[in-house]
Amino acid sequence: MTGFNRIVILTGAGLSAESGLSTFRDKDGIWARYRIEDVATPEAFARNPTLVQDFYNARRKGARDVAPNAAHAALARLESDHPGNVLTVTQNIDPLHERAGSKNLIHMHGEILRALCAHCGGRTPWEDDLTADLDCGRCGRTGGMRPDVVWFGEMPYQMETIYAALADCDLFVSIGTSGNVYPAAGFVAEANAAGAHTVELNLEPSEGISHFAEAIHGKATEIVPAYVDRLLKG
Ligand code: OAD
Repeated sequence: MTGFNRIVILTGAGLSAESGLSTFRDKDGIWARYRIEDVATPEAFARNPTLVQDFYNARRKGARDVAPNAAHAALARLESDHPGNVLTVTQNIDPLHERAGSKNLIHMHGEILRALCAHCGGRTPWEDDLTADLDCGRCGRTGGMRPDVVWFGEMPYQMETIYAALADCDLFVSIGTSGNVYPAAGFVAEANAAGAHTVELNLEPSEGISHFAEAIHGKATEIVPAYVDRLLKG
């Protein structure tokens, strides 16, 4: 496994499952308890802001005190110890990659511990509940404070940077994601088009399994550290 110089890692909810955070599409996952169109779209927020804020307030509470697991730690170690460039792109809104020490990190679906003002676009670190009656600390207007997360129908963050990295990578590794949600589900095709080696690390085969050159299935806390060891040994 020698010779990888530009590595792009994509992560999803499966990476944080063993830290105690729910995934979305597993049988007891978040989308078994809520409907996407009720809590994760701009239309839902316009229709029933309290329901949407309550949903994300609960997730903010859940994310505040969790600790990264061995898989997050292994990815941070890869970034610091690998001689090439390692970019981690996460669909997760939890803060576990940064708590483990990852620095070259893109939260493409936003961050639950930040608030976004829909009026002025200002972003602020936020650890408490968000409510419809809050004023924005920047523009002073009321009613626009929302979680800084990307909802269905909105554009994920930093897509230009991500596509540029995919077009130039020689290894793409997708970890703990079911491959249901675009644009992230299409990243493996971009990496293949760039001539990169593509690897899936997941509990079970994902929707996109046929696009990967290599796949290892098992729990993230077991297979990710082992895979990172392989990469670092060259
Ligand atoms: P999913 O819930 O769709 O998929 C999680 C994947 O992780 C599944 O394939 C599981 O088999 C796998 N998994 C579960 N436990 C695991 C473990 N311990 N180790 C390894 N793998 C495990 O979550 P995502 O693919 O991240 O977007 O979902 C993508 C997006 O859909 C999310 O970012 C969110 C959601 O709707 C928005 O809200 C915009």
